Parts: sequence; structure tokens; C-alpha cells
Amino acid sequence: MGQVNTSIIPEFVLLGLAQTFGMQFFFCFFFSLFYVGIIFGNLFIVLTVIFDSRLHFPMYILLANLSLIDLGLSSTTVPRTISDLLTGCKVISFHSCMIQMFFIHVMGGVEMVLLIAMAYDRYTAICKPLHYLTIMNPRMCMILVIAAWTIGMIHAMSQFIFVINLPFCGPYNVGSFYCDFPRVIKLACMDTYKLEFVVTANSGFISMCTFFFLIVSYVFILVTVRQHSSTDLSKAFFTLSAHITVVVLFFTPCMFLYVWPFPTKSLDNFFAIVDFVVTPVLNPAIYTLRNKDMKLAIRRLSRQVLSSREVTQ
Ligand SMILES: *[C@@H]1O[C@H](CO)[C@@H](O)[C@H](O)[C@H]1NC(C)=O
Repeated sequence: MGQVNTSIIPEFVLLGLAQTFGMQFFFCFFFSLFYVGIIFGNLFIVLTVIFDSRLHFPMYILLANLSLIDLGLSSTTVPRTISDLLTGCKVISFHSCMIQMFFIHVMGGVEMVLLIAMAYDRYTAICKPLHYLTIMNPRMCMILVIAAWTIGMIHAMSQFIFVINLPFCGPYNVGSFYCDFPRVIKLACMDTYKLEFVVTANSGFISMCTFFFLIVSYVFILVTVRQHSSTDLSKAFFTLSAHITVVVLFFTPCMFLYVWPFPTKSLDNFFAIVDFVVTPVLNPAIYTLRNKDMKLAIRRLSRQVLSSREVTQ
């Protein structure tokens, strides 16, 4: 029985990131260092927002949710890639490959909607300041987060149900260091032209449209800020430029990975690394280093920790 099963369920072969021992060591070091940064940076934001009641505003609650998703998104690939680099193993089971693709798109979808929610939050705060507290109430915040998860699940599911039933009969070379829909679909032994279009439309065009929508929204908000010049002007510019940086960092790789019609391995790897390793570590840095409230909260938190240590000693 066991033999029959293994011959039916295929195993995929991933592309090793490094060809030489030196490169293998370099990538392993680089990924581990960044992953530790991702865990600490993002958990730090989540804990700061949860424990500091002065940060219980929609902007920070959404930010904490985004940090959690960043951590989740990089956890779909980075730990596995580190262990593959350490062991030199390139084989991934069919199930692991499917699970990896599914969660990449759940997390990616949630992140996309959260970025829209954060833009909407800034739009209300800056363009409708008098109604801000009535529009962005805790219930609205909850609805936005639930909507993000629902849309993320639908986005991943709508591609997953097609791919899980594809017939695979070899070759099994994914041609990338992780599993993702565009690459795996190409390995199916049937005509997948329509399916490739579904994936390009679902992941590619959606990320492209969302990107342009967000950029236009932020430009609109910036123009509004300029018209109502006030003392908060520079603060708003600071916040908005942080948001725009994050949007560009997240969507540029997405658009290249799913829309760009001439994929090259090295460019694909580069953009994947940006989305799984670099963006999740930069987000906490961008938000905490550029935000006065976050910096104050961190100072309060460290003071509390220090004083509680004095009490216990
Ligand atoms: C995410 O958002 C929900 C809904 O507003 C909130 O209850 C929750 O505390 C947030 N998560 C974090 C980690 O802050």
C-alpha cells in the first residue's frame, strides 16, 4: 500500500538558492539573521500596541495586525529555506508544497486588504477629521480585520482548488526555492493555459490594481493635507510617506512575480526574497523609527520594565 501511495503522490524538487558552499553559508546566515529580526521586530510592535492603552487607536491596531501577518508571511517560506540550506535538501513533499502555496496566498491576501484598510484609516483621519472617531470605531476596525481574513482565504482558495487536483507526472522541478502557483501549474501534465490566466488575474492583476488604487489614494490624501495646512502637516507627511514606502516595498515584488511575462530565475528569487525576508523586517523599522507615538510608547514600556525589575530585586 505504502509503495502505491508514494508512486501516486509526487514530490517536487526545489531550486537550491546557492550553488557554492560559500553562497550557501552566506544565504543561511543572511536568512537566519533577518528571520530573527522579523520575529523580534514584529512581536515587539504587537506587544507594544497590546500593552500600551495609549496606542489603542485604529491606526496602531491595524499596524499590529499587519505585523502579525508579516511574521506569518515570512514564516511560510523562510524557516523551510533555512533548513533546506543547512541540510542541502531540495525535495519537498506534495502536501508541504500545497500547504506552502496556500498559506503564502492567505497571508499575502490578508496583507493586501490590511494595507487598503490602513489607507482608508488615514483617509478618514485626514480628509474627514470631524467624523473620524464615529467612522473608525472599534467595530469598524474589527470588520476590516475580519474582511481582510475572509478575502485572504477566498483569494487563496480560489486558486488552490484548481491546483490541488492537477495531474502531475513529471518532471517535478519547481525551478524556485519555494512553491508557488505559477511555477507549480507549469509542471502539470495537461494544457494549463486557462489556469495560468486565472492565477495571473487573481494574483497579478489584483495586486496591480490594488497598488495603483493605493498610490492614487495616498496622492489624494497628500493633496488634501497640503490644502488644509495645519500644525499636523509634517506629522501627516511623515506617516503617509511611511505607508507609501511599505506599499511600494510589498507590491513591486508581487507585480513582478505574477504579472511580468518574462520570468527569469535570478530576478524571481530576488523579488521573492524581498517580499519574504526584507519587507517583513523593514515594516517594523519604518513604523517605529519614523513614528513619534511609537517611540514614546517604547520609552514608556522600557521604563515600566526597568522599574518592575527594580521592585522584584
Ligand atoms: C487586530 O485587529 C482586531 C480587530 O480590531 C483587534 O481586536 C486585535 O487586537 C488586533 N490584533 C493585534 C495583534 O493587535
